[in-house]
Formats: sequence, C-alpha cells, structure tokens
Amino acid sequence: MAATSQLQERLAEARRVAVLTGAGVSAESGVPTFRGAGGLWRKYRAEDLATPEAFHRNPKLVWEWYDSRRQLIARCQPNAAHRAIALLEHRAPEFLLITQNVDGLHRLAGNVRLVELHGNLWRVHCLDDGQVTENLEVPLQAIPPRCGCGGLLRPDVVWFGEALPPEALQAASDFAESCDVFLVVGTSVVVQPAASLPTIARRRGAYVVEVNLEPTPLTSLAHESHHGKAAEILPRLLGIPSDASGNFEFRISNFEMPSSDSRPPTPGTPEKPCSP
Ligand code: OAD
Repeated sequence: MAATSQLQERLAEARRVAVLTGAGVSAESGVPTFRGAGGLWRKYRAEDLATPEAFHRNPKLVWEWYDSRRQLIARCQPNAAHRAIALLEHRAPEFLLITQNVDGLHRLAGNVRLVELHGNLWRVHCLDDGQVTENLEVPLQAIPPRCGCGGLLRPDVVWFGEALPPEALQAASDFAESCDVFLVVGTSVVVQPAASLPTIARRRGAYVVEVNLEPTPLTSLAHESHHGKAAEILPRLLGIPSDASGNFEFRISNFEMPSSDSRPPTPGTPEKPCSP
C-alpha cells in the first residue's frame, strides 16, 4: 500500500466523484473473479458460456452456468468495500459508480447512482418481445426459462462480442471526462471499453486512485495505487472509523447504511434519502 494518501483531501474538495469497480470488489463476499487464481476464466471457456453463439447453440448449458452463479451469489452479502463505496455516494455532491459486476451487490449495499456496464444477472431479457424484467428465482424452476409470451429468456448481461448498453457507456464516459476524483477498485483493467475510463479521467485532470491486490496496467498511471484487499484498504483510505474490534462503522450523521438482508432491488428503484 502506498505510504501516504491524499484521497481524503481530494474528496473533500471534489464536486464529482467516480468509482469504477470490477470482480475484485466482490471477492471478499465470496464471488469468484474472472482472472487470476480461482478465476472463472481459468476453469471455464468464455466461448462456451458467455457469447451469443454459445447461447444460440446450447441455451440450457449457458443457463445452467448462470443458474449456478446466481445460486452462489444469492448467498453472498456486500462486504466492507461495497459499503464504503455506498457511503461515498452519500458523501459526494455528485457521484457515479461504474461497475463491470453483474452480481447486484452494490445495489444491495445501498448505491443508487450507478451504471452496470455489463448488465445484471438478476434481470432477464426476452428474445421475442424484447422485455427486460427482474428475475430473482433461485434456483430456476425451468432451464432455460421462458417469458410469459413463450419466448426464450436470456440473462440481461453483456457477452463477449456484444456492444455495451449505449446509455450506460455514454453516462460512464461523460462522468469520466468531467470528474475530479476517479477511484478504481478490484478490476484487472484489461476489458474494454471500461479499461479506458480511468485513462480518460486522468487526461482530463482527475485524481486517480487504484485499490487492487496487485499491480495492473493502470498502476503506473494512477496518482496512488494501494495493494491489498479492498474490504480492508478502502474503508481506511476513506477515513471510515472502526470500533475496538476493528469493525468499520458505516454511518453518516443520522443516516445509517441499510443492512444487507434483501436481494437486489430492480433497476429504476427510487432514490433513497441522501445525506444532509
Ligand atoms: P478480473 O477477474 O479480470 O480482475 C479482478 C481484479 O481484482 C484483479 O486485478 C485482482 O487482482 C483484483 N482482486 C482480486 N481480489 C481482490 C480483493 N480482495 N481486493 C482488491 N482487488 C482484488 O475482473 P474484472 O476486472 O471485473 O466481463 O473483469 C472485467 C470483465 O471481464 C468482467 O466484467 C467480465 C470479465 O470477462 C464480462 O463477462 C463481459
């Protein structure tokens, strides 16, 4: 971890704060990452499970994989890094969380101003009528699941070879170009276009801070790079106090962050009360 950090001072002066997250932010919740030891792409071939062609060839196989991931994630809770990012949203005058994660844990932690660049595996998309709906069934009763119209449903996630949702990408790019602080947590920063966002922010004058277990292609470009587990490092970097046992206190004035006891709310959930 870098010896000193200016992050708190920079945040105190910042108007617009952006956070980019990847699978590493959920690692300590028990959700596997994609690359590195134990990563999903070490065990499975993305071509068999995460492309439109794979789904066309064998929707049952693809859905079985997504159903098993949903079963695992349904048992996971947001960790201290998710909660620190949720608290940051309530502190910053203007804020955007840009996540590559599809697990819904940021919403569960309380983030509202977020774009899910790669979709969300708690939503499904009908290939016939195009409707996108929430689906929280765990495990799925029928595989592959079908829409009320009879059409085949697919997970509402972005697969290899597919374009990102244009509005999500536009919102993320606009914010990256205009933010004062850009925090990057738990991503290998190798998958485009998300990987370009911190560079764009850096060029436009943002203060860029990275938190990751190990160096990434961003490390040499970032103003600060802190190496270690996000759930340990991030709350400390943000100055979140901890009690005598070392548990962080996620509290802002009279508003306490919600406890994590419900599944992810659907997209478009009304905003929760903001900090004073
Ligand atoms: P990766 O699996 O590529 O990278 C995870 C990053 O998190 C690595 O750099 C790890 O060093 C870091 N990491 C792991 N545990 C950590 C911890 N406890 N604290 C901090 N950092 C930790 O995941 P992403 O960067 O999210 O796309 O991958 C990007 C995209 O590639 C994913 O959204 C997915 C994947 O293919 C699609 O499925 C479209």
